[in-house]
Amino acid sequence: MGRVGRHLLLWFLGSLLGSSCIAGAGSEEAQTSTPAAPGVPHLPQPVPDTLEQRLKSCTACHGPEGRAGPDGYYPRIAGKPSGYLYNQLVAFRDGTRHYLPMGYLLSGMPAAYLHEIADFFSNAHPAYAAPAATSANAATLERGRLIVEEGDASLQLPACSACHGRQLQGIAPAVPGLIGLPRDYLNAQLGAWKSGRRTARAPDCMATLAMRLSDADVNALTAWLASQPVSQNARPALQFEAPAPLECGSLSRVALP
Ligand code: HEC
Ligand code: HEC
Repeated sequence: MGRVGRHLLLWFLGSLLGSSCIAGAGSEEAQTSTPAAPGVPHLPQPVPDTLEQRLKSCTACHGPEGRAGPDGYYPRIAGKPSGYLYNQLVAFRDGTRHYLPMGYLLSGMPAAYLHEIADFFSNAHPAYAAPAATSANAATLERGRLIVEEGDASLQLPACSACHGRQLQGIAPAVPGLIGLPRDYLNAQLGAWKSGRRTARAPDCMATLAMRLSDADVNALTAWLASQPVSQNARPALQFEAPAPLECGSLSRVALP
């Protein structure tokens, strides 16, 4: 990052942490959100101290309601399964996934607040943008589709859809969708698993699978995935159709603090 970029980042972080300290607001929320008596409905407060308001520090990068940033770098978080979002927030907070600004923002946040944030974005369903045009040729796209939808037994690759859902919209509560994401983001995530920069709870099935993908196959499947349109009412599937072909630690982590 150049000097100007670093300067902007520090300014940006300073303004986030200075103006609306979401960590502090989280503990406040924990106190004020306790209902007065069982059965009394928890009415939204008319004052602008809402979760949405506090999460402006997130949507500054992730776009309104978490619909994705404008330039393909900040991923969409809206509508992803809540357990998946929660696992990622824990991972950034605890340093098993790396992105400095998020690590700072999340540091010290209690699990209960991270669950609240995850539920908030999971329940948001802003419209999906149309997919970017692809420059990949037909053979590349077909290779990509084949790996995603059918797998490649010769490489011990199960279909990605076996875990990410037939519609590739993820499976609640802990598997994310693979469409509606920019190609650069997908490439970066698979690259991060190969290099060990991104890890999920052991057994880390995605690390195992990423190692079995050649660069050409990563290229093919991300080209295909990023060119798929997403139906506006797409939602994660509610359950696996068959047992997952590999064991994934993330699938059992969701309920843990
Ligand atoms: C300075 C910009 C920035 C801010 C502020 C920010 N994020 Fe992020 N966020 C990113 C980037 C960039 C990534 C992708 C990092 C990577 O490459 O792994 C990301 C990734 C994520 C992911 C993982 C998405 C996925 O599909 O795996 C979640 C969840 C997330 N952010 C939630 C939040 C929340 C909640 C906040 C507010 C507490 C927040 N972010 C604040 C830039 C930001
Ligand atoms: C055995 C189940 C399983 C299979 C098969 C599988 N995945 Fe995953 N994938 C997961 C799980 C679980 C996660 C969430 C990991 C975490 O919590 O960080 C994940 C996460 C991802 C992510 C991160 C998405 C994001 O928003 O950051 C990408 C990209 C991905 N998988 C791509 C693939 C591709 C490509 C294939 C096929 C080659 C594939 N996966 C096959 C279980 C699977």
